Amino acid sequence: MTAVNNIWQPAPIDLTLLPDEIHVWRIDLDQPEAQLQNLAATLSDDEMIRAQRFHFQEHQQRFIAGRGILRSILSRYLGIKPSEVQFNYQQRGKPILAETCASRGLGFNLSHSQELGLCAVNCTREIGVDLEYIRPVSDLEALAKRFFLPREYEMLRSLCSNQQQEVFFRYWTCKEAYLKATGDGLSQLEEVEVFLTPTKPAKLQITQDWSLFELIPANNYVAAVAVANFGWNLKCWQY
Ligand SMILES: CC(C)(COP(=O)(O)OP(=O)(O)OC[C@H]1O[C@@H](n2cnc3c(N)ncnc32)[C@H](O)[C@@H]1OP(=O)(O)O)[C@@H](O)C(=O)NCCC(=O)NCCS
Repeated sequence: MTAVNNIWQPAPIDLTLLPDEIHVWRIDLDQPEAQLQNLAATLSDDEMIRAQRFHFQEHQQRFIAGRGILRSILSRYLGIKPSEVQFNYQQRGKPILAETCASRGLGFNLSHSQELGLCAVNCTREIGVDLEYIRPVSDLEALAKRFFLPREYEMLRSLCSNQQQEVFFRYWTCKEAYLKATGDGLSQLEEVEVFLTPTKPAKLQITQDWSLFELIPANNYVAAVAVANFGWNLKCWQY
């Protein structure tokens, strides 16, 4: 599971999204100042107010880059300007396209961790993505006991500490990708059962008819994309 997926290609100019395709975009959130200004100019007033609430400049700039590039990506599928993309928010905060932009049934989800972001796009089903930087977690076993199922917790405990960290974040991203697809968020992590081993890719046990894709977008990162149904063709673009 540790090799970086070398599947990130530049997107073609005549980009199309077929009904059986999932597109995942890898985004560098640390953008040069001039580019940040261009991206900030495409954000809505409420997004700029959110950006200004970040205490650290680095976090503010990464939020602007994430939202600005999300707008830029969606605008390519919608054939409109990035600043014309309009969002609505579901009850637990999941951004979706406002009705004015929703005619093509485009669904998306964004995740960020440190300097990297991932945006997953699909035009037929709800989609969720989660990305985590693998980092030391001091109370890893306690967290796993609280948020994972007994079988998952026992699997983690059986591993050496190096493997534990990576497997912990693999469980976490798989669960969260599913909960971000449904829009439920982190509230129900312990209800989403995932089957995986250090060498085998993850499967969702909670439901039989969802696909789960695990990705390693960079060294020390793990990510997962969850989407209902099977038979997807995954394409990965570097923004
Ligand atoms: C959504 C959630 C799982 C994000 O966790 P995270 O690991 O910190 O962040 P990620 O980087 O993976 O994802 C954040 C992005 O997901 C999207 N998002 C926000 N809420 C979401 C939700 N409920 N479902 C799916 N996606 C969501 C946004 O695009 C957000 O990024 P942005 O605001 O910069 O655009 C977490 O914030 C959560 O559980 N939210 C629910 C909160 C809730 O229940 N509120 C109740 C209010 S009534």
